[in-house]
Amino acid sequence: MQAKNKNIVILISGGGSNMAAIARAAQQQEWESRFSARIAAVISNQPDAKGLPLAQSMGIAAEALSHKSFDSREAFDAALMKVVDRYQPALVVLAGFMRILTPAFVAHYAGRLINIHPSLLPLFPGLHTHQRAIDAGCKEAGATVHQVTAELDHGPALAQAVVPVLPGDTADALAARVLVQEHLLYPRAIESWLQTQP
Ligand code: GAR
Repeated sequence: MQAKNKNIVILISGGGSNMAAIARAAQQQEWESRFSARIAAVISNQPDAKGLPLAQSMGIAAEALSHKSFDSREAFDAALMKVVDRYQPALVVLAGFMRILTPAFVAHYAGRLINIHPSLLPLFPGLHTHQRAIDAGCKEAGATVHQVTAELDHGPALAQAVVPVLPGDTADALAARVLVQEHLLYPRAIESWLQTQP
């Protein structure tokens, strides 16, 4: 029996390097023929996100929905749900999507909403993770792919990557080292998720 189509929608706010790594993995590892999975769309809350033209250049539908056009977080999230749902996603992937989501949004995609966070959660939820890891004297830093729950950066972890914190590291140097691992970690975590789906 042919597996059900599994559309993946990726939400971004910026450069979209994780999005591109996922899209490349989907192509190279033939997610469509192996899992009936395809990257259906990339959506950004920032109209000038560099990841939007990048997605288009990879042949992926790309749309912007500016949160600035809405009076409230609830109104934006409701509109975002409508856009995302047009693609009937099996999985919604937050990849550098820099918005706090409402409980209604999280509940709507319960069990099919994942995020990558640039720290070894539960350490350093929130912003400025790399500087905080350096300031805390951590010997290791990294990234976590996790299910999204109502509490920010607290859902169950699906996968982690660890890198060393080196003497004299700046936040930028550490972020770049972590990002290289994110590009390996996130596609792997999504592939593992796809393997568990009927
Ligand atoms: C990544 O490092 C990601 O982990 C982080 O933003 C960057 C996005 O880069 N996400 C967060 O901080 C979420 N709280 P990208 O747009 O090049 O993928």
